[in-house]
Amino acid sequence: MKLWAGRFQKETDTLVNDFNSSISFDARMYKEDIAGSVAHAAMLGKQGIIEAHEAEKIIGGLQAILADIEGGRVEFSLENEDIHMNIETMLTQRIGDTGKRLHTARSRNDQVAVDFRLFVKEEIPQMIAQVLDLERVLIQKAKANLETVMPGYTHLQRAQPTTFGHYMMAYANMLKRDVTRLEDCLERMDECPLGAGALAASTYPVDRFATAAALGFRKPTDNSMDSVSDRDFAIELLSACSILMMHLSRFSEEIILWCSWEFKYVELDDAYSTGSSIMPQKKNPDVAELVRGKTGRVYGSLVTLLTVMKGLPLAYNKDMQEDKECVFDAIDTVKMCLPVFTAMLDTLTVKEKNMHRAAAGGFINATDCADYLVKKGMPFREAYMIVGRLVNMCIKTGETLDTLPLKDFRSVSGVFDADVYQALELKTCVNGRKVYGGPAKEAVERQIEAIEQFVRER
Ligand code: ARG
Repeated sequence: MKLWAGRFQKETDTLVNDFNSSISFDARMYKEDIAGSVAHAAMLGKQGIIEAHEAEKIIGGLQAILADIEGGRVEFSLENEDIHMNIETMLTQRIGDTGKRLHTARSRNDQVAVDFRLFVKEEIPQMIAQVLDLERVLIQKAKANLETVMPGYTHLQRAQPTTFGHYMMAYANMLKRDVTRLEDCLERMDECPLGAGALAASTYPVDRFATAAALGFRKPTDNSMDSVSDRDFAIELLSACSILMMHLSRFSEEIILWCSWEFKYVELDDAYSTGSSIMPQKKNPDVAELVRGKTGRVYGSLVTLLTVMKGLPLAYNKDMQEDKECVFDAIDTVKMCLPVFTAMLDTLTVKEKNMHRAAAGGFINATDCADYLVKKGMPFREAYMIVGRLVNMCIKTGETLDTLPLKDFRSVSGVFDADVYQALELKTCVNGRKVYGGPAKEAVERQIEAIEQFVRER
């Protein structure tokens, strides 16, 4: 018999039972549901809303249910719709009529809101820890490649010289923002909706501050209608996850390019690559590709929840039951991607020589060549034009700026001297870029220190 059978004259159609039920996915919040109920029951007892011995009996019953669920001794039922009604029904079956007092001054609306928040609150620190592990690998790779010169790109065209270490710290900075975004989300959602009831709280003397504290929240939420209709915390998490995945996806894209034979800047470890079922020569970057692919899936979750919420009047609507699967899936996806991506990066080999060869062959020192003239007093625009002519000349004759004879330099401008070759050396070009944030060794060392400190503080 349904909890609400008093109001109804007919049984729920089985189609509706199946359709309405969320137990298949919200069973995952059993721990949070029981924690919420324990806090609620304890508060009811303390406030004299139920008898102290009743509260004790309820809490004992809930703890026994928890142990049985963890021991795999519990089967949930579809008829009881969701985790909340499953546990409440089970409690009454076990402890008798006292169980019927648990739902005093509470609704499933504030119950689900608190369960979901508790769940998310526990997941976020785990994700942060995984991002920090990736940061540690980036730091390590950066330290090992402070002088590994490679081309930096714009429009995927070789642009200016940088180092693999500088490149790694670019990603380290993106991930640092991801960590702070997750922390921010955690901070803002740290308010407890329990006690908001269905939407208009209740007439009982409930102590929302006590339940908030018992459940580890900073404070109760400030408005009961907002409490039960708000899913911002989930949307914020999905958006932080989407941005994080966007970063991993861009990084994956680079790794996929870098391990192609066209680049050969890196080689993935055998343990983090796959072969082909037909082409014997293949070594594929499947891990990076899957991370890139799964990014779409996480974006999908964000768009799902934004769309579910966009037209909902206050307060709770059943549409909101659609909030959980997308959040669970995004969390699972991110938590699966991060460690495998980190291990793949950790074990990849950097092909320093190939990076250097590409850096030497693509005029990435053209800006430095113009800067050479500027340092000798020429206005930048003029120097830029002259070097453009030189590059054009090189392309025709198959030279690079480093190998172009001095007489050719001087045929375009008399300002050039033999010291131009020193100015064009890749090491000179990189190490001259000492500007804060730049690719010179000492500048990257400062970047590493900053990220190391960020990681250390957490
Ligand atoms: N299973 C529901 C959900 O996930 C719980 C809240 C249901 N509340 C209600 N009034 N139908 O959102």
